[in-house]
Amino acid sequence: MSILVTGGAGYIGSHTCLKLIEAGHEVVLLDNFCNSHRSVLAGLEAIVSKAPVDEAPAKKAPVDKAGAGKTGMGKALVLVEGDVRDAGLLGQVFAAHSIEAVIHFAALKAVGESVQRPLDYYDNNLSGSLVLLKAMREAGVKTLVFSSSATVYGNPTQVPIREDAPLEATNPYGHSKLMVEGILENVCQADAAWRVARLRYFNPIGAHESGLIGENPQGVPSNLVPYIARVAAGKLAKLQVYGGDYPTRDGTGVRDYVHVMDLAEGHLKALEYLHAHGGLLTLNLGGGRGYSVLEVLRMFEQVSASPVAFEVVPRRPGDVAECWADTGAALKILGWKAQRNLATMCLDTWRWQKQQA
Ligand code: NAD
Ligand code: UFG
Repeated sequence: MSILVTGGAGYIGSHTCLKLIEAGHEVVLLDNFCNSHRSVLAGLEAIVSKAPVDEAPAKKAPVDKAGAGKTGMGKALVLVEGDVRDAGLLGQVFAAHSIEAVIHFAALKAVGESVQRPLDYYDNNLSGSLVLLKAMREAGVKTLVFSSSATVYGNPTQVPIREDAPLEATNPYGHSKLMVEGILENVCQADAAWRVARLRYFNPIGAHESGLIGENPQGVPSNLVPYIARVAAGKLAKLQVYGGDYPTRDGTGVRDYVHVMDLAEGHLKALEYLHAHGGLLTLNLGGGRGYSVLEVLRMFEQVSASPVAFEVVPRRPGDVAECWADTGAALKILGWKAQRNLATMCLDTWRWQKQQA
């Protein structure tokens, strides 16, 4: 299949592009690089061409201009540099490539920032999805995998969280995800030809085992594990642990961490499912168990053999005490279950971190 991947240069997108290419699909990667770096393409190229890790041109920037489309991977990966809200560009992309399915990662994702800049979040996440859906309809492409989030469960009333748990948005980011989920339901109700998966990710961490691609946000990371990795590497002084007084086993927040490569494999399975069955699919993708902030920190110290300094500070507004997934539906429907444990997640993050300048 030829698959359009919006936000494909980002963290989850890049790892998913790799799995798609390895499975023999052709990928058209559309990204505006607002939260990613062009160097991810060199990392992908090195992995796909199986260059030895120490010779891989991980820092080499590809030479593409907007829409020029050439990468070192030929038809396996075509880059379109641009914005998912650009209807004209999307029309050109669908006209130029025989796209059969779309995976829509492109979005802004920082909860706190969404409270500060709600209009930017609605514009990017909501308008971007609408423009994409209309372009897909025009082109007659009706298979979509959408990146949703465990944030749609708001403050969960019980854990583990099943897909039929109450939905609630506690911030503009969450609202944008819930709104797009609702739009997709309406689209599927209106036209049975649509095949849509709404995948609710829990906390993706880790990196490809080569260490050539990983989580590389612009600026200081707001998520726990990239922050810990930079403290371990000596790039940041200390972690602030947001809250030591939660009703959890050690007082710190508990989350469901899932390896980004497991997540990438889940996307492939979702696409295969949609191809075979159609309809509207809504699934949690998580590891199915919770770890506290301090448990993650200790594991990272262990695998990196580096101390991670921290201080406990007041809770971060909007955070919940604990959140982890019931992953039974993903296992039953897709045959998907996360395979990689917390030690692997931390080790792979560390391998990636060590290669950063
Ligand atoms: P990311 O920021 O690394 O990747 C998003 C990519 O989309 C970036 O490369 C960015 O440059 C691009 N992008 C953003 N707006 C764009 C636009 N208008 N046009 C073109 N490209 C645009 O984030 P990620 O962690 O890979 O997340 C991918 C998706 O998964 C997002 O939709 C996010 O909301 C969702 N999600 C992420 C997490 C998480 O913790 N990482 C959890 C749940 C859901
Ligand atoms: N934390 C700290 N210090 C930090 C960063 C995080 O103590 O510097 C704590 C948080 O309080 C929380 C845990 O580490 O207890 C995980 O926090 P993250 O920011 O890494 O992740 P969240 O669970 O807050 O949110 C993530 C994504 C959201 C997504 C959500 C879904 O960032 O986009 O998972 O579960 F909606």
